[in-house]
Amino acid sequence: MWTGKKLVKAYLDFFREKKHAIIPSASLIPEHDPTVLFTTAGMHPLVPFLLGQPHPEGKRLANNQKCLRTDDIGEVGDASHHTFFFMLGNWSLGDYFKKEAIEFSFEFLTSKKWLGLDKERISVSCFAGDKDAPRDEESARHWEKMGIPKERIYFFPKKDNWWGPAGKTGPCGPDTEMFYDTGKEKCGKGCKPGCSCGKYFEIWNDVFMEYNKTASGKYEKLRQQNVDTGMGVERTVAVLNGLPNDYETELFKPMMGKVRELSKNYNEKSARIICDHLRAVVFVLAEGKGIVPSNVEQGYVLRRLIRRSIRHGRLLGIKGNFCREIAKKVIETYADEWPELKKNSGIVLRELEAEEEKFGRVLSQGVKMFEKILGREKEISGKDAFLLYQSFGFPLEMTVEIAKERGLKIDRKAFEKEFEKHQKISRQATVGKFKSGLADNSEVAIRMHTATHLLHAALRKVLGEHVQQKGSNITPERLRFDFSNPEKVTKEQLEKVEKLVNDAIKKGITVKREEMTLEEARKRGALAFFDSKYVPEKVSVYTIPGASKEVCAGPHVKNTKEIGKFKIVKEEAISAGVRRIKAVLE
Ligand code: SER
Repeated sequence: MWTGKKLVKAYLDFFREKKHAIIPSASLIPEHDPTVLFTTAGMHPLVPFLLGQPHPEGKRLANNQKCLRTDDIGEVGDASHHTFFFMLGNWSLGDYFKKEAIEFSFEFLTSKKWLGLDKERISVSCFAGDKDAPRDEESARHWEKMGIPKERIYFFPKKDNWWGPAGKTGPCGPDTEMFYDTGKEKCGKGCKPGCSCGKYFEIWNDVFMEYNKTASGKYEKLRQQNVDTGMGVERTVAVLNGLPNDYETELFKPMMGKVRELSKNYNEKSARIICDHLRAVVFVLAEGKGIVPSNVEQGYVLRRLIRRSIRHGRLLGIKGNFCREIAKKVIETYADEWPELKKNSGIVLRELEAEEEKFGRVLSQGVKMFEKILGREKEISGKDAFLLYQSFGFPLEMTVEIAKERGLKIDRKAFEKEFEKHQKISRQATVGKFKSGLADNSEVAIRMHTATHLLHAALRKVLGEHVQQKGSNITPERLRFDFSNPEKVTKEQLEKVEKLVNDAIKKGITVKREEMTLEEARKRGALAFFDSKYVPEKVSVYTIPGASKEVCAGPHVKNTKEIGKFKIVKEEAISAGVRRIKAVLE
């Protein structure tokens, strides 16, 4: 039997043999990238390196990355779409390109030493070409050389065979996708790779990243030709075991079993949605980065996933709180490989329970309200949707989903208007903005990132060496920095911190980057507050002489004078012993 563990090991062993450095999974919460809320793909934390910055581990990398995407949330419940999933990936940073990438993929998939899949059941797709980039005949030729006949090589347009950027801007390119024929009957005449009926499982995607999409929507050639590949662990394990869907693999079985046990009116789709969503929630909460259910940004995604699970729990006839029980199964299933699940199980279970309590109390009243509206109207108005949101905590997407089930429409625009009228908080809170990321991976973000290093160092100077970074998040509007400190930071202290940061900016100091082992970095006094289990063999150290020295993936400005004027706008507590500073650049 193939397990997730066995597949991951085989993949990483294979790429180690092909001279790739194995790097750790990055956090699900991107620290210094305002373009997305979560890490959506393995390439995402590698953006600076795809753009040309040298990676301390070399030009060939591979890993198993935790990913979270909400784009496919509507498809969750089918055989193989997920919000959270594990993605195996290998990268060439300006090293090998199409030929080797395709040879590696083919060998790993079909060789008896590795997965041993039947090559007769593999089809592939390539980019058909358009005004931005030519038809990818080269990839097709390499596939033919591998023994894939022309009839099983398809050409599709950008919407199918182009990947990225992860946010609105950044590295991207044409891709070639590999599909495994499960042997199921075709669902109709037009059934071919890419069809969602479950006959063809897309198991691997090789992206040839040689373009950069700019803020104006142009595709510019990158300085180097990169490869970025992604193989979904769950679906590949299903294919290898001849199972019809991911939920029958050992990766989901314990959770699915629990849901079935608790259900009165079991239905497979609701059970799958619950297991998919709660697995995602457990992994996000277990990051321990202070992300909890809320009405903004990542917290809103958590809220939406939990509340949708609870609603599906009700459809299954589950009485009372159940999320905790499922979460415990997730933790048991994955704790060996992902120790953060055990370490932060307290936070996970507590937050889940609190959100379930909150929503559970109002859900049945909300459903009654919904029925009332349905009884009198043909369309859910913006006002009604807003009422359901505000008084009963129905995320807008959930209202849309229920309305759709009943064949009703919803006036989404009017809801958003209503929402903005009532909500005085930041623009980013507006529901519906979450799908495509928040902003662009811009210079502003890079300036804020360097400012964060100066802030960290200044806080340690003013408050003491007990100060340690606990989290950081950047949007184009502001930077946010969480750190350990037992009490409120006084106004005088904040002024001192601000002055230290601005002094370093005014001095126009050159920022220096070096590569070394983590041990060496610590010896040289670089700040590095993370679990060393997650650190690759070599790290980058950014030094701002006289001000800061920190282990970090970058990117940063070249000189501190690029940063602009730094201003603290807020200081508050976020949990016992952890403070949060928000600051802007003027
Ligand atoms: N970035 C591509 C994907 O997510 C390949 O890793 O499919």
